[in-house]
Amino acid sequence: MRRDDLIDVPARPGQTLVLGGAGFIGRHAVQALLAQGHAPVIGSRHPGRIDHRLPAAARGCPRRKARFEALLTADAWIPLLAEIRVVVNCVGILRQRGRETYQRVHHQAPAALAEACRRSGVRLVHVSALGLDLPARSGFLRSKCDGEAALKASGATGCIVRPSLLDAPHGGYGARWIRRVARWPVHVLPADATGRIAALDVQDLGEALARLAHPITDEAGMAEFELGGLEALSLRDYLARLRRLHSPRPARVLLIPGWLARLGSHACDLVHATPFSFGHWELLRRDNCPRINHLPALLGRAPRPVGADAPGDVRSPRLQPDPA
Ligand SMILES: NC(=O)c1ccc[n+]([C@@H]2O[C@H](COP(=O)([O-])OP(=O)(O)OC[C@H]3O[C@@H](n4cnc5c(N)ncnc54)[C@H](OP(=O)(O)O)[C@@H]3O)[C@@H](O)[C@H]2O)c1
Repeated sequence: MRRDDLIDVPARPGQTLVLGGAGFIGRHAVQALLAQGHAPVIGSRHPGRIDHRLPAAARGCPRRKARFEALLTADAWIPLLAEIRVVVNCVGILRQRGRETYQRVHHQAPAALAEACRRSGVRLVHVSALGLDLPARSGFLRSKCDGEAALKASGATGCIVRPSLLDAPHGGYGARWIRRVARWPVHVLPADATGRIAALDVQDLGEALARLAHPITDEAGMAEFELGGLEALSLRDYLARLRRLHSPRPARVLLIPGWLARLGSHACDLVHATPFSFGHWELLRRDNCPRINHLPALLGRAPRPVGADAPGDVRSPRLQPDPA
């Protein structure tokens, strides 16, 4: 049997299945669930190959194999929900690959999951994104929007969570890139990237997701929570803030026309380079801030300031290279 075919120890009744539980957001949700005394089960496409992506405390958690492109009906999801009381969906793709299309991963599979949750009486917490309320041309944003609409219509109980951009001292494809770019002496920015970002710490998001997974009262329907950090900054100011972690000298800012940035985003999509995509170019032109920030209330304290960590901060451990 291949390691990937493994489905570990059966879940204990009432456990929380974290789909994408080895991803950037998912592993912080798993860590927070463990810290809050819950028993997470980790969903992954490769359950036998994720140890190096997990915090040490989570390596003993049971795992279940979940490939969204193959889970497009409620019936397909039902066996994965055995003995599960709550599902936290942290799955998302930046770019399409073969059968892993935006529509399947962000819309059809979550819609089928919501129907399975409704039938089984399982609570569903779905991680989405801000900035989906305006018309979008990118398939990435449209699929996320369609996914949200399907969940709201599903009759399942739970919530949709829309975080702003995430930051962490280490880890996370986008967060790592933004911190790298911030170090550069010249910041090349699209002139039309005028939207504001309320970046938040991924550890705070993990904690909030764990709270939303196990609320004190469980009301019917899909609630919506928009989450952000303490400040709303333009991309230019956000990069300047992160740069101060490494250098007291401000970077030179070079603004490029919007059409050129758009062309660049399509080129990045074509060759799967950098986290800059057409969808993200669209997002940068609109505000990415919560209308009402639910994060402080969920945490019961102020969110952590972003970009204030000392170099070498190890709150999110540096990931080990994959031994496989
Ligand atoms: N990062 C941010 O700043 C940010 C901000 C707002 C919203 N979001 C949204 O939050 C979600 C997660 O983001 P993230 O930063 O945690 O991304 P990530 O680190 O790439 O994690 C996504 C996880 O999804 C799983 N996955 C990918 N394709 C899959 C498939 N076909 N079937 C099943 N699982 C699959 C992967 O798990 P395995 O490799 O283990 O299978 C991966 O660990 C995305 O929808 C993203 O748009 C992110």
